[in-house]
Amino acid sequence: MANKWFETVAVAQRRAEKRVPSSVYNAIIGGAEKGLSLASNQRSFDDLGFAPHVAGLPAERSMATRVMGLDLSMPVIISPTGVQAVHPEGEVAVARAATNRGLPMGLSSFASRSMEEVVAANPNTLFQMYWSGGRDVMVQRLERARAAGVKGIILTLDWTFSNGRDWGSPFIPEKMNLRTMIKLSPQALSRPRWFWSYLRLLDIPDLTTPNMAAPGAAPPTFFGAYYEWMTMPPPSWDDIAWLRSQWDGPFMVKGVCRVDDAKRVRDLGATALSVSNHGGNNLDGTPSPIRALPAIAEAVGSEVEVVLDGGVRRGSDVVKAVALGARAVMIGRAYLWGLAVNGQAGVENVLDILRGGIDACMLGLAKSDISELGPDDLVIPPGFLVTLGAD
Ligand SMILES: Cc1cc2nc3c(=O)[nH]c(=O)nc-3n(C[C@H](O)[C@H](O)[C@H](O)COP(=O)(O)O)c2cc1C
Repeated sequence: MANKWFETVAVAQRRAEKRVPSSVYNAIIGGAEKGLSLASNQRSFDDLGFAPHVAGLPAERSMATRVMGLDLSMPVIISPTGVQAVHPEGEVAVARAATNRGLPMGLSSFASRSMEEVVAANPNTLFQMYWSGGRDVMVQRLERARAAGVKGIILTLDWTFSNGRDWGSPFIPEKMNLRTMIKLSPQALSRPRWFWSYLRLLDIPDLTTPNMAAPGAAPPTFFGAYYEWMTMPPPSWDDIAWLRSQWDGPFMVKGVCRVDDAKRVRDLGATALSVSNHGGNNLDGTPSPIRALPAIAEAVGSEVEVVLDGGVRRGSDVVKAVALGARAVMIGRAYLWGLAVNGQAGVENVLDILRGGIDACMLGLAKSDISELGPDDLVIPPGFLVTLGAD
């Protein structure tokens, strides 16, 4: 069998494109409108440089940290992604990989696997919710999460239901039945290894969302769940404070870009906030999170844990984010490509690439502990930093 190991995330991306049907690959790429935020999320990391040392480098380096009350072997968290059909084991494979590498698992509301299955694979699971379904329904979901052993909640607030992109949106069927299977069969047959991985398990992705099911009811379809969310009036800050009051454990708000919003998140008692633009899938033109991070970390970082989400593809990106004030980063597409290429082992491969990259940077920057990183370790070009919503 061919060696499935890959040496960088870019290689994994290229292999994923060849391995999965185009509609699945395009669903992972995502992006919104013109793709401005999607492109700038990554480009911004490239704009930052390092200020290395050449001697007095530490022989041993520690990158362990803590976020949301959980120990992390390195400052990386699996960001929740609702992409179905990438791999038959889906979120369970990702959760196992994260467990094996000492990391928490963010599980999307739109995931293909139940929270109970995922917690069994990774006891440090953080369940992601949207403001969807009404207060009673959200309380039911929190109760289910508590009973399942979920360790914390991620409330994602940055979504604008924009539904167009210049390079076209993939076809996502409402349901996997015989008709849609026939319609999609040319794509599936053009990727026989991917198709076979499902066929041999007799496990065709049914595109339902088990974590959005009412107690005792069948899981809604992806679009059924999306409709429930879409038709819900967006939350006020009081609504969010109410939701936070319903969960007595660690609580993260994901999608913050502005200092004033970060302060409100702190004031409502969140444990953590994620500086994020939904990986460029949201309001196109939102600046890359790495540029907005320092002002937010400076304003609230001593009172709420600040993490960075968006555009991370390398260990050096993780180091840049930590140097600019993040406690950790969250990753999305990087692990999805690993999953698409080689299931659980592919996700572990991605995590090992990030670990190796972080370690190499810490050596070059003469840091024995990840907490020693700071802005002085970076070359930050003029005009790079963006401060939104400061007094
Ligand atoms: C295909 C795809 C699906 C996503 N689904 C969700 C989701 O269900 N919930 C959520 O909070 N974020 C979702 N996100 C956003 C990710 O959690 C994360 O913010 C983003 O992927 C980070 O950017 P990166 O992919 O450059 O690492 C999704 C992202 C992608 C690419």
